[in-house]
Amino acid sequence: MEVIIRPDTARAVRLAARLIADTVKMKPACKLGLATGHTMEAVYAELGRMHCEQKLDFSLVRTFNLDEYIGLAATDPNSYRYYMDQHLFKCINIDVRNTFLPDGMAADEIAEGQRYESLIRDAGGIDLQLLGIGSDGHIGFNEPISSLASRTRAKALTPATYLQNSKYFTPPEAMPKRAFTMGVGTIMDAKRIVMLITGSAKAGIAAKAIEGPVTAMVTGSALQLHPAAVVILDQAAAGMLTQTDYYNWVFANEPEWADYR
Ligand code: GLP
Repeated sequence: MEVIIRPDTARAVRLAARLIADTVKMKPACKLGLATGHTMEAVYAELGRMHCEQKLDFSLVRTFNLDEYIGLAATDPNSYRYYMDQHLFKCINIDVRNTFLPDGMAADEIAEGQRYESLIRDAGGIDLQLLGIGSDGHIGFNEPISSLASRTRAKALTPATYLQNSKYFTPPEAMPKRAFTMGVGTIMDAKRIVMLITGSAKAGIAAKAIEGPVTAMVTGSALQLHPAAVVILDQAAAGMLTQTDYYNWVFANEPEWADYR
């Protein structure tokens, strides 16, 4: 795992977006794993800007989102499909037929998990998986005690997640209490992982995920076992890390990061 701390949120966001853009440039038909949540809105705005100003070409890209609320149709403004259409897909030249999320309205939940796994597998796997982290440490909707080997499935959300996300629903009680999510095992199969964490409210959980023990209690900690995971934080989110001098040293000196400093 590599940890990169940027002085402010804008620079953390720009770095995450650049890593995605560079993947698209290097492999135009790449497969991107995408995330939702407030943190990602700025990343998608930046990718939209790169498409408009630098002609970043998404025409051959395929995307697979982490998760979707169970019971919400694609047309529901609270669905993650709707979020992705609004924040990214309508702003870039992607073929919407190449964009995939679990179907929140699927009648057979087991079959839906298997269908989604097959879609990813048949596409050849995910080249770069973008991740945020929930206040309880979840990636996707892999809540505490999710198996670190789990695959795409239906998952009951925790009260903490309900509290975190229901503020985006009107009324808040309209938020579903269950979701389909890629499993931790599904996420760990991605060739590269980029996690973005911003804001002081995430400082405690960021420290647990990055420097704490690998545990199903904080599924984000599974990234410690991934061969190519990068966690990008702004200064505020990095506030409780203990090895910041080392992380800054690596970013300042490793040739891999020369173009990104
Ligand atoms: C949801 C998503 C996660 C995301 C989290 C963080 O729970 N399922 O993938 O990481 O939100 O959201 P925010 O960026 O709004 O803090």
